[in-house]
This record gives sequence, C-alpha cells and structure tokens, in this order.
Amino acid sequence: MASLTIRKLDDELKAYLRLRSARNGRSVEEEVRVILRDLADGRVEPAEGIPAVSTAPAPRPASSAGEPRITLIIGGGIAAYKALDLIRRLKERHIEVRCVLTKAAQQFVTPLAASALSHERVYTDLFDAESEFDAGHIRLARECDLIVVAPATADLMAKMAQGHADDLASAILLAANRPILLAPAMNPLMWNNPATRRNVLQLRRDDVHTVGPNAGEMAEAGEAGVGRMAEPTEIAAAADRMLRPPKAQPLSGKRVLVTAGPTHEAIDPVRYIANRSSGKQGFAIAAAAHAAGADVVLVAGPVELDDPSGIAVMRVESARDMLHRVEAALPVDVAIFAAAVADWRVASEGSQKLKKTTAGMPPLQLVENPDILATISKLKEKRPPLVIGFAAETEHLIENAKAKFARKGCDWIVANDVSPATGVMGGDRNTVHLLAREGKEVTVDSWPVMTKEEVAAALVSRIARSVGTAS
Ligand SMILES: Cc1cc2nc3c(=O)[nH]c(=O)nc-3n(C[C@H](O)[C@H](O)[C@H](O)COP(=O)(O)O)c2cc1C
Repeated sequence: MASLTIRKLDDELKAYLRLRSARNGRSVEEEVRVILRDLADGRVEPAEGIPAVSTAPAPRPASSAGEPRITLIIGGGIAAYKALDLIRRLKERHIEVRCVLTKAAQQFVTPLAASALSHERVYTDLFDAESEFDAGHIRLARECDLIVVAPATADLMAKMAQGHADDLASAILLAANRPILLAPAMNPLMWNNPATRRNVLQLRRDDVHTVGPNAGEMAEAGEAGVGRMAEPTEIAAAADRMLRPPKAQPLSGKRVLVTAGPTHEAIDPVRYIANRSSGKQGFAIAAAAHAAGADVVLVAGPVELDDPSGIAVMRVESARDMLHRVEAALPVDVAIFAAAVADWRVASEGSQKLKKTTAGMPPLQLVENPDILATISKLKEKRPPLVIGFAAETEHLIENAKAKFARKGCDWIVANDVSPATGVMGGDRNTVHLLAREGKEVTVDSWPVMTKEEVAAALVSRIARSVGTAS
C-alpha cells in the first residue's frame, strides 16, 4: 500500500486540506482518509471554494478505547505539580488525557513527566513544525470532549478573557468549541485583585466553568486565604460530571425491595433442599433499580454473587428467613419477588446428621413453606403499591403463569421458561413475558431474548413509568 507524505503536497492543496480538516475537527491524515473513502464510495465533496468554518462542535473522532478525552492545559503556577496527580486521577476514571504545558509551566513540571503519566505526546509550542503542519492547535482544541486548565493562572485567565492567542495554550482556548473547565490557583491577593475578579466574571459569562479555588495555606510562607487550587480528586470529579452528566433517576425517592436466588431448606446440619437459581436476574434488577435512583433493599438466598455497590444486601438461607427479612423491610414502594423460593421444607429438621441405617432411607416428610409473594400481595397494611412476582415454569408457560397470577394477588408477573434446554437457570440470558392487569383482562407482553441485565433495565423502566417520577 502506497504511503502519502502530506508535507510534500503543494501549498494550495495543503491549505485546502488544513482548512477542511479544521472545519471538520479532524487531523489532516484523517481528512485525507475520509476523502479517499468518499471517493471510493462515489461521494466526492467539490474542492472549489472553501466553505466558511463552522463553529458548531463537530463530532470528535472516538478515542481508541471509546473513552472520553480531555485536553489538559497546565499553567505556570506552583500548583502545576498537582496537575501531574490530576492526570492520574483522570486516567483512573477512564478518561484519556493529552497535555499542553505553557512555557511557564515547564519551570515547575517537565513535559517528560506529563507524557509518562498520560502515555501521550505532550504539546508545548504553537510554532512546532511537527504538530502545526496540520494546524495542531485546532486539533488539540477539538479532538477532545473537554478542555481543563489546571492550574489556571491569573495571567492565562486574563488572556482568555481578552481573547489573546499568542501561545499554544491561549490559541487552543480561543479556538475551542468544547466546554472548558478552569481550576484557578494563585496567591489570595492575585485572586482578589479587581482585574482578576473582572476576568473571572467575564469568563463565567462566556460559559467557562470553574472548580475552586479553595481556601487554605499558600505555598508562600505564612500566607493563607482563597487561592489554593482545588484538589486533583475534586477537579477530576468536576470534569467527570461535565463529561458524563448524571442520568435521569426516575426512581429517586422510591424504596424498592428485591428478592433473589434460591432458598436452602435444611434437612439436617449438612444437607438441604435447594434449586438451581443463581440469583443473577434478581441482582441485576436490584442494580438497575439502584441506577434509576431507588433506595434498594435486596434480600438474597444463598448465591455466589458479590453485593452490588450501593445496595444493602441481606443474606438469608430459608424461605422463612426470607419472609422475615421481607416483612422487616416494609413499607416499600415496589416489591419484586425474583427469588426461587422453595415450596417445601422438611417437617422436622434433624439436629444431627441423619445416619444410613439398615432400616433404609429415613422418611422425609415435607410441609409447605410460607408463600412470600401471596403473603405480601394480600397484606391489608403496608402492601406495596406495586408487587411483582416471577413465575419460573418448565411447561405451559403462559397458562401456568396466568394461573399463578390469579392465585397470588400480585400486580404483575414476569414469566420465564426455565426448562433445562433454555439455560436460563444459572445462565446470563432470559426470555420473559410480562403479565399485567388491564381492568379484568390480563395482558401479556413478550420480550425478545435478552441478557439478564437488559431484562432488568427493561423491567425497571416499566416500573418507572408506572410508579416513578417519570410517570
Ligand atoms: C515561583 C512562582 C510561582 C508562581 N505561582 C503562580 C500561581 O500560583 N498562580 C499564578 O497565577 N501565577 C503564578 N506565578 C506567575 C506565573 O508563572 C506567570 O504569571 C506566568 O506568566 C504564567 O504563565 P502561563 O499563564 O502562560 O502559564 C508564579 C511565578 C513564580 C515565579
């Protein structure tokens, strides 16, 4: 495959390519690739006349891992050393970082350190032949999702407020069509100087965001006040919030109870009756409800799953333990009974291990366990406004689920086929049917095969429509 050296193209073509790539927020190489691809596909943009430059944010090329990318401008303040920690904090949050160091910043930290921490080339010079042959400052301004300036010096903010562009950092900031976050850092007298106050006010009016500065000790001996740069963790969190704004939380303020997993019904101290439930579906529902903002209580039978983060998990063994925990968790707004509760237990649990005897197998008399779903559905007081049961069937799925629906008194039933061929028990996918009441009718909504997480998300969004703040 032939290679193309862009620097060897004639000036007119180079100028066209530079402007076209800047307009589209791409590097010249990427622009050439797009042109060639369009040419191959028969879509060719006419070369005559360069269209006006658009100021609308062009979609930036995705980073290699699809992670958000920040252009981090490090200004020449004593807090520049903290910017190195900031690179690490951003990378911990799976954010790619490309650093630009001002001339003054290089008096405090080296490009080598920033490069080693960011695993990227560091940019320092506006008139750098290597990066500017394709208007590198425009690319640095646009090939990112956010520009962070830390520390933002008084000088750099003054230049921004005035629209200067006489070095790489200020040129990037002037050419930017991405959001900008400043972390100012300076001596309290500089921060309180009317000139800085005016500049900060102007920048805020220009839609520039700030984090800090904080109050505290200054690097200068004996000085304290407002001017310390926000901590790297604070700046990283503020950047993350701008990059990934919190999603809508339709279940915020709602309390949701979920049961999951099997129950173990002891025969004696070492043996028990169990079933093959893995708990994955219930845990996924609890996690999805938590992500939707609900306060979640998860009552789980014996499963080998870690506690989902942010959720209070109550581990239980038997159906009776589970019922006690469920009753103790009331009142709730929604109760989802996804656990595969054993229908029976032995009438009298042996206090010692049952022994093999010549008399043959000991008779195991079974008695019915409490029916948690029916008990909660039929409560007079504290009945949750929305009670959802699960019907795991191995045959006549809808028919059996409808019969269960009629018996239990719950509001919805999620029916799934758990016959061995489906691999649902213990597996990662599920095919479910949602039964609900519409007047006297029972409606059946059949969902396609999905992962258990997808089933959970779909169920939670149905719940949110029914009882959530989005309803
Ligand atoms: C030791 C030392 C520490 C400095 N610390 C700060 C500071 O914390 N904040 C600030 O705004 N300027 C500080 N300055 C002044 C800036 O380095 C100076 O204004 C420089 O022009 C800023 O350039 P830049 O904004 O392009 O990085 C400091 C200067 C020196 C010599």
